[in-house]
Amino acid sequence: MIKSIDASASVAAAPELSIRTIIEPFRIKSVEPVKATTCEERVRALAAAGNNVFLLHAEDVLIDLLTDSGTGAMSAAQWGALMQGDESYAGGRSFFRFEAVVKDLTGMRHVIPTHQGRAAERILFHTTLSKGDVVPNNNHFDTTRANIEVEGAEALDLVIPEGKVPSLVHPFKGNVDLGALERLLAERGDRVPLVMVTVTNNSGGGQPVSLENLRGVRALCDRFRKPLFLDACRFAENSWFVKTREAGQAHRTPKEIAREMFSIADGCTMSAKKDGLANIGGFLAMNDDAWAERARNLLILTEGFPTYGGLAGYDLEAIARGLEEVVEEPYLHYRIRSIEYLAEKLAAAGVPMIQPPGGHAVYLDARALLPRIPPLRYPGIALVNALYREAGIRGVEIGTVMFGLHPDGSETPAAMDLVRLAFPRRVYTQSHVDYVAEAVIGVAAMSGKLAGYRMTNAPRALRHFTARFEEA
Ligand code: F0G
Repeated sequence: MIKSIDASASVAAAPELSIRTIIEPFRIKSVEPVKATTCEERVRALAAAGNNVFLLHAEDVLIDLLTDSGTGAMSAAQWGALMQGDESYAGGRSFFRFEAVVKDLTGMRHVIPTHQGRAAERILFHTTLSKGDVVPNNNHFDTTRANIEVEGAEALDLVIPEGKVPSLVHPFKGNVDLGALERLLAERGDRVPLVMVTVTNNSGGGQPVSLENLRGVRALCDRFRKPLFLDACRFAENSWFVKTREAGQAHRTPKEIAREMFSIADGCTMSAKKDGLANIGGFLAMNDDAWAERARNLLILTEGFPTYGGLAGYDLEAIARGLEEVVEEPYLHYRIRSIEYLAEKLAAAGVPMIQPPGGHAVYLDARALLPRIPPLRYPGIALVNALYREAGIRGVEIGTVMFGLHPDGSETPAAMDLVRLAFPRRVYTQSHVDYVAEAVIGVAAMSGKLAGYRMTNAPRALRHFTARFEEA
C-alpha cells in the first residue's frame, strides 16, 4: 500500500510482517493446458483402457498423479543448460559436469550414467547376484524387486513393524528392522551379496529413513562385511525429513544431510526422474573398483558408452543442474508442505491414509476405505478408477495388483492396499491440490457404492502396467 505522508518513517517503525503461508517458490514462465472431460467421456476412456489407468491416454486426464517420476517441471536454468549439452560420443564435457555434481553429492568414486533408475538396478543386480541370493531392503520398489527376481534371487522387505500400519504415526516409518536384518545376516549371510535401503521408502508410503537407522544398518554391514547400497531416488526429500524430524539435525542444510546419507553407503542406484528434477535419466554410483568395472562393461552392452550411458549430453546437463536445485531449502519446504497440506484436508474429512504423509505422495488406504471389497478383488483399483471417473484424477494402485503375484504364480493379498497420489515436482499449484482434496473427499463419501474388480488378462511380471480388469 502506498502512504501519502512520511511513508518511510511509518514503515521503519512497523514490526516486520510474519507471513506463514508457504508459497510455490517459483513463478510460471510457460504453461501447458489441461483438458476437462465429462464423466461420460471418462467412463468410455476407462472402458477402452480395460479399466487400467496406465492404459489411458494422458490427454484424457485432468490432474495426473500417476507418478512423480519424470513428470516434473524443469527450471529456466535447466532448460538453459540443455543448450550447453555436449553430444560427443565419448568424453563429452556434459559427462564431466554431471560426474562432478554427483561426486560432490555422494562422494562416490565411480559414477555410471543410465537412462533411468531401473537400468542402474538391472546392471547392479545382473553383475552381482546369483540364483538363490537374497537382497534385503526396507521395501523394494516394484522394478527393484522384479530386477532381483529375474536373476533368480529373493527380494526381502525388512521395514520396521510400524511401517506396515498405515494409521500409525512414526517419524521414520521407512526405517529398517535392524533385528530382522541382523538375523538374516547371521543365518543366511553367505547368500546376501549386498544390503539396500530405499530413501524415501516409496512402496511403504514415501516414508523417510533416519540417519541413526542408516548408521545401524551400516554397523551390521560392517560386522558381516556386506556392501550397503541406497536406492536414492528421493534422497533430497529424505534429507528434509531428517532435518525437520531427527534430533540434532535442524541446523544442517539438506545438502549436508544428503552427503552424510551417501557417505554411510558404498553405492547407490538413482532415478534422476525423481530428485534429479529431470524428465529422464539415472545413475549407478559406487566405490568398489571391480564391481564398477563389471557394471561399465554391461553398460556398454546395453545402455551405451560410460560417458553417456543411454542419455543425451543435454540430459546430463539437466540432471547436473537438477541435483543442485533439489537440495535448496525453499524448494524442499514447499514440496513437503504441499503434500502435507493435502493430507491435512483429507484427514480432517476422515479419509484413511498412511500417516504421516510421504514426501512425494499421499497414500490413501483403500483397504480401510473399502472394507467390503476383499484384497483379491483389488480395492485399490476400485478407488483409482472411481477417482478418474468422478474427477479426472489419475492415481496408482500400490497393493495386491502390484505386489500380490509371486514368482511361483500364486497370488496373496499384499501387506497393504494403497492408492498413491504422487505429485510431479513444481507442476501443480495450490488450487489444483484443493481440487484433488475436494474430489477425494467426494469419492470417499460414495465408497459404499464402489465395486471390486477381477483381472481378465495379465502378464507374469510387472502385471500392473498392462493388466485389464472388469468389475466383479
Ligand atoms: N526405485 C524407486 C524407489 C522408485 O520409486 C523407482 C521408480 C525406481 C527405483 C525405478 O526408477 O522409473 O527411473 O526406472 N518409481 C516410479 C514411481 C516409476 O512411480 O514411483 P525408474
